[in-house]
Order: sequence, then structure tokens, then C-alpha cells
Amino acid sequence: MEIINTIAALKMLLEPLKQAQQKIAIVPTMGALHKGHVSLIAAAKQQADIVVCSIFVNPTQFTDVKDLEKYPRPLEHDIQMLEDAGCQVVFMPSVKEMYPGAEEWHIDLGNAEFLLEGEFRKGHYQGVTQIVKKLFDAVNPDLAFFGQKDFQQVLMIKKMVATFNLPVQIVSCPIIRDADGLAMSSRNIHLTPADRQHALILSKTLQFVKEHFQQYSIPVLLEKATEMLQSVNGVELDYFTIANGETLLPESNKNAENLVALVAAKVGETRLIDNILLN
Ligand code: PAF
Repeated sequence: MEIINTIAALKMLLEPLKQAQQKIAIVPTMGALHKGHVSLIAAAKQQADIVVCSIFVNPTQFTDVKDLEKYPRPLEHDIQMLEDAGCQVVFMPSVKEMYPGAEEWHIDLGNAEFLLEGEFRKGHYQGVTQIVKKLFDAVNPDLAFFGQKDFQQVLMIKKMVATFNLPVQIVSCPIIRDADGLAMSSRNIHLTPADRQHALILSKTLQFVKEHFQQYSIPVLLEKATEMLQSVNGVELDYFTIANGETLLPESNKNAENLVALVAAKVGETRLIDNILLN
């Protein structure tokens, strides 16, 4: 596995491969890898010849400096996981490499940018799309793999790709859960044992909504879900919604297509998100 720190070295390695018609996939990450990331590498390996995983804790997508500072960075462990997963190239640039000078970035991501996570993390998706565009420019991938757990992120990245008409296919991969249902996330390591127990209500509620989707109307499902989430001590609900999977606007018609239930809550000191596709 090659470990590369500069864009120039990355291009030198990848450009000849691209010219030789090798299919290149990127799995962008911020490190602190878990089985969810490994599943993205596995999916990428199935569809591409060369899999590049980037590890870069991107400062422009953090709205809270403390959150950026405490973001876990277990680099040696990450490299070992990528080696074991059969990743061929790891790109680990410095902040200076990705942001050599002051720069402006703003693109129109549509109304969905400001909903849900966008409401709680102002400017977050500008930062995400900014770094993903830079990574795509550096790698020139045919395919890029992201986890469905960050449902809104996948939508925003697709929008950015469409805006710049980039020749890259965005692949969204299923959420990987622990045996008890908790969606895997790099942030889970901040959960105390008690938080971890409390956090299970997120996936339990989503599962309840999916299982009872035919039985109850959407307003009733929302009421029951909110009750469930608010019944657990230590869980501070930011939102629970049943929305259109394209616009992220709340949907009250059960027969509408592409419905998704999305939840965000603070559990102890850790903010978690999760979602489930309903139809
Ligand atoms: O999902 C993440 O880990 C990050 O938001 C991403 C896509 C790597 C951009 O920094």
C-alpha cells in the first residue's frame, strides 16, 4: 500500500494508471476508521482497479473549533485497517497541502443545504463540498464511495458533482451497524458506556418507524418516534423527520416515493445522526 502526502506525488502515481484505462475509485474519509469505512473500501474494490482512500480531517467543514480539535486521529490503527482491507493507495495530505492560501468557496447547493444538518451546522456542506472537489481534482476518480449514514452529505456531493459536471459516479453504500443496531460512526468512541446504551434509541426508533410504516399515518409515526426519543435520559433530540429523499422537505403523504426517516440527537456530549429508507 502506497502512502502519499502531496497532490503532485498522487497525480504522478495515478495519471499513468488512468491513461492505461485503469478504473480509479476514491473513498474519502476523515480517518478514525471503522467497519463502515471497510465496507466502502470493499465495495470500491469490487468496481475499480485502484482504490484510493483519503484521510484528512477537513477544517472547513467544522462549525465548532472544539469539535475539530477533539476529532479522533488514530493514524497507525487507520493505516493497518486500510492495509488489511486491501486498499492500494492512502492519501494523507497536510492542511497546508489542501489549503495553501486563503480561498473563497461558495456554491449553490439548493435549499436542502439549509435543512436538517444544515440548520445545526451552518456552512458545513460548503466545507464538505469544497474538500471533496479538491480530492476529486487530485485523484480524478471514476467512482467515489460514501456511506448512506451521512444521507444529506451524499445529496450535497451529488449536487456539487452536477454543478461542475464532473465525470465521477457517486456510490452511496448501506449503513453498517453494530450487532445492537448502533450505526457505526467515528464519533462513537466518545460515547461513555451509559451514552452508548442511550444511543440505541436512535436505531430502535428508526426500526420502529420502518416496521410500522404501513400501520400508522406519517403524523402518528412522527409523534410516536418523538415520544420514544424523548423518553430516554441523556438524549437531546435535534430533529426526527420523515422527508423526501431528494428535497429533504418533510413529507406527509405515505404514498410518495423516496421517503427517508432521519434523526439527529446529542447523546451525552456526542452528536449522532442516523437514517433509514422507508420505501
Ligand atoms: O464523511 C466524511 O468523513 C467527510 O465529510 C468527508 C466526505 C471525508 C469530507 O471531509
